[in-house]
Parts: sequence; structure tokens; C-alpha cells
Amino acid sequence: MRAQLIHSDDISNLLCDTLVIPFFKDLSLNAENRKIDKSTGKQLSQLLASNDFSGQLGETTLLLVPNGIKAQRIVLWGLGDKDALNRQSWSRAADSLASVINQQKIKHAAILSSLKLPKSVTNTWSLQQLISRITRGNYRYSTTKTSIKAKQPTLTKISIVNGENSTANKRAIKAGLAIGKGINTARELGNLPGNICTPKYLSSEARKLGRQHPSIKTTVLGEKQMKLLEMGSLLSVGYGSVEESQLIIMNYQGGKKNQQPHALVGKGITFDSGGISLKPGAKMDEMKFDMCGAASVMGTMSAIAEMKLPINVVAIIAAAENMPSSRATKPGDVVTSMSGKTIEVLNTDAEGRLVLCDALTYVERFKPASVVDIATLTGACIMALGHHATGLLSNNDALAENLLKAGQDSADRAWQLPLWDDYQKQLDTPFADLGNIGAGGAGTITAACFLSQFATQYPWAHLDIAGTAWNQGGGKGASGRPVAMLCQYLMSHTEQ
Ligand code: BES
Ligand code: MN
Ligand code: ZN
Repeated sequence: MRAQLIHSDDISNLLCDTLVIPFFKDLSLNAENRKIDKSTGKQLSQLLASNDFSGQLGETTLLLVPNGIKAQRIVLWGLGDKDALNRQSWSRAADSLASVINQQKIKHAAILSSLKLPKSVTNTWSLQQLISRITRGNYRYSTTKTSIKAKQPTLTKISIVNGENSTANKRAIKAGLAIGKGINTARELGNLPGNICTPKYLSSEARKLGRQHPSIKTTVLGEKQMKLLEMGSLLSVGYGSVEESQLIIMNYQGGKKNQQPHALVGKGITFDSGGISLKPGAKMDEMKFDMCGAASVMGTMSAIAEMKLPINVVAIIAAAENMPSSRATKPGDVVTSMSGKTIEVLNTDAEGRLVLCDALTYVERFKPASVVDIATLTGACIMALGHHATGLLSNNDALAENLLKAGQDSADRAWQLPLWDDYQKQLDTPFADLGNIGAGGAGTITAACFLSQFATQYPWAHLDIAGTAWNQGGGKGASGRPVAMLCQYLMSHTEQ
């Protein structure tokens, strides 16, 4: 996908196959629209008068082979009530446009940007968001299908017509493309089945990112090296699987050498059967998505490398497959984590925290300025927040605020839950320093409490993406969340 800013005084002769004209619900024509109306012999105003299009938020109407202009289609794009437009609604409108122009056989869409947007959505922001959402919509999963290759979206070029030709806008377009691509990187990894996307597959993809971007250095630790580091907790999760567990380290150097990095830590369970505490059969296939935290970390790394953000970021992915077998960890087993703390594995299905805790100890060596872990950690998070908000828990208020704001700004939102000491005692057990499950409700919070005991050396936040990492039903598949939030968060560190 490419995107560019262009200028044209003569839209009817613009070489593109589809012209997108945005309208608020007052349907008023500006000077540019009136010119188009004239060229098309009033087709535009007739269509607007027909009541087939009312300019509602996200509404789109397609006009095929309009008269008098070079474009083969006009898409009317509704933005709703001008005064009600905000970042959330703009993003929704962008998604509808993305879906229309990625469904038609459109190669080059030109979007008129002469409409005056209200202050609530700044121009550079709306541009970044629009481009990232269209790029996101340009992805269809097809890797393991032989029958739908023909239905791949055809769009390869977006032109933003008559927007301000500023450095800020050019940067916004670049960022939008990079973030959209990063989102799709995460979606593809998430969608791949567990028999393809194994821990070793994740490490080979991470190495590939390292080859594509000289600013990223990838290192992979196998089970032998993790044993030397005494990562007894992480390793215990993969005991039942023939797939070797992997600790993947991606080091992005975009800032000064001595600048403290921000760290991302991703849960990469490539399939979560529950282990000996086996999950029920219904929807168990969806546990191939249990590596979506890792996928979002990889998507984010690719985006920031593409944007060449002037910061340092270190990414750690804890990858394993959780399977039952005679070698698998059993309920009641006690393991020793890299931190030295002993953990009683009361439920082998609470495996995410077991891999993450060792990664959280390992990341200390980078002396990170902040650490954010991303994990499909608890079904309880879906009970609490459904599929709209990512759960956020943190030991640092400023960091939590930054992430919540980044979520608002990218329309990829999180909601904070309390991490009070009161919940910690749910993890007490007579047989180890802590148990891996809490007794007494609030499963998302007790999971975060568990992690907090290992995230003691730096400002830390935990994102529970169990409800947001993938969509169910008709559009079943990985969502790419929270790549947009993470990118926005990291970009905020580059602003003075
Ligand atoms: N990967 C699951 C959490 C999950 C479940 C995410 C369903 C999305 C949809 C995690 O490893 C898990 O199994 N958690 C358990 C924890 C429990 C045993 C304390 C859960 O949520 O049931
Ligand atoms: Mn589990
Ligand atoms: Zn899991």
C-alpha cells in the first residue's frame, strides 16, 4: 500500500478509479463539490436529493460510472453530525470507508480532504488514523486457504486530495501506513493455526524482522539457555509439548545508545489446551490466538522500525505451547522462577503468568524506563470488560495515564482495574511463595497481582487483551489490537 498527498484544481480530470467525497449529515456542497456536480451534469446533487444517502456516520453510497469525470466510481462517505465528531466516531467512519474501498475492485482511491473538520479531530491525527484504518482493511487472511485468493483486496494506492502539503501531514501518512501494516503483521501471526505458528515459528519471524530492519537486533534463547538462566517457571509450561519453548529478544535502537529503553513483553502461548487442567472442548480452537500478545509486540516493533522512532525499545516474547502429556506439569507441582520465588502450579491453565513472570525478571537487565506486558491472560477480563476495552493494571499512575491516553488517541482503548494489595493474599498457599491462581473472584486482578510480584524494579503496566485480541462470529480473526495503542504510546515518548 502506498499513500500520498496530492493537489488538484480539476478533480474531474483526476486520474484515479475512485473518488471519495466526505459529507456531514447537512449534505452541504462546498465549492469543490459544486465543481464535481457541474462536471457530472448534476448527478451528485441528484443523488444527494434522492434520500438514498443521508450522511450518517459511517454511511457509504457508491455511484458507478459517473458522467463527465475520469474516476469510475464516486463514494459518498458520511461523517454524521459535525458537532458530534470525535476520535472514536472518526475511527468508526474510517473503518466503514476502509471496508467499502477494500471490497470493490479499486486500485487507487482519491479521498477529498477539503472538508473542514471540527477541532476535536485535528488534521494530522485524522489523517494518520484514516490511513492506518484503510491499510488495516487491506488485509484478508488467505495463507491456509486455496479457494479465496482471488478475493484479495486490490487497493494499492490512496491519494489525499487538497489537504495541506505539510511535513506534519506527510509524517502522519507515513505513520498511518506503518501502523496499519504493523496491525496486519499481528493479525496474520494471530490467525495462523497452532500447527504452523509454533514458538519456533515466532522466533523465525522475529529474526526475519531483524533482517528487514537493521535497527532491530533479534536474539533467541532456547530451552537449554533458559535452563542456565534458571527460568523454571517459563520452562514448566512447555514440558508437555514437543515444541521447544523460546525466549525472543528484539532490541530496537532508534535513540541514543545510553538512553533507557521502553520494554514490551508479550505472551506467546502458540496453543493453550490448558495442559493437564484441560480446557473444555467448545471453542478450544480459539486458543491458537493465545499468542496475540506476542503478535502485537512484533507488529509494534515492525511499525516503530518503519517509522524510525527516535527511541530505544526492547521487546521480549515468552513463547511456549501448553499441552498435556506424561511429562507435563501437574496441578500441585512447585516450580522455581528465575527470580528465586517458588510457585505452586495449582492450575496448569493459568500458564500465561508462568511464562510472563520469568520474562519480567529477565527484562530487568535492560534497566527499562517502563515495561508493558501484553497478554491474553484471563477469561475473567471478558466478563469484566467484554470485547471493547483492553484491561489495564499498573504499579505506576503516570504510566497508566499514558497508556489510557494512547488508547483514546488511537481509538484502541483500555480501562483500568485496581491493583490493590487487598487482592494479593488470594495468592497465598501453604506450599510455595505463591500460587498461580487466586481464590475468591477478580481473576483479572489476581493474575496481575501475580505478575506484580515479579515487576518490582521498574514502572510496569499489564494489558489483558483476552477480550480484544480477536473477533468472533462472522469476521472471526485476530484484531491486531493493541498495536495502535502501543504505537501511539511509544510515539508519545518522542514528543518534546
Ligand atoms: N489464555 C487463557 C485466557 C483466555 C481464555 C483468553 C479465553 C481468552 C479467552 C489463559 O491462559 C487461561 O486459561 N486463564 C484461565 C485462568 C484460570 C485458570 C485462573 C482462565 O481465564 O480461565
Ligand atoms: Mn490457559
Ligand atoms: Zn493462556
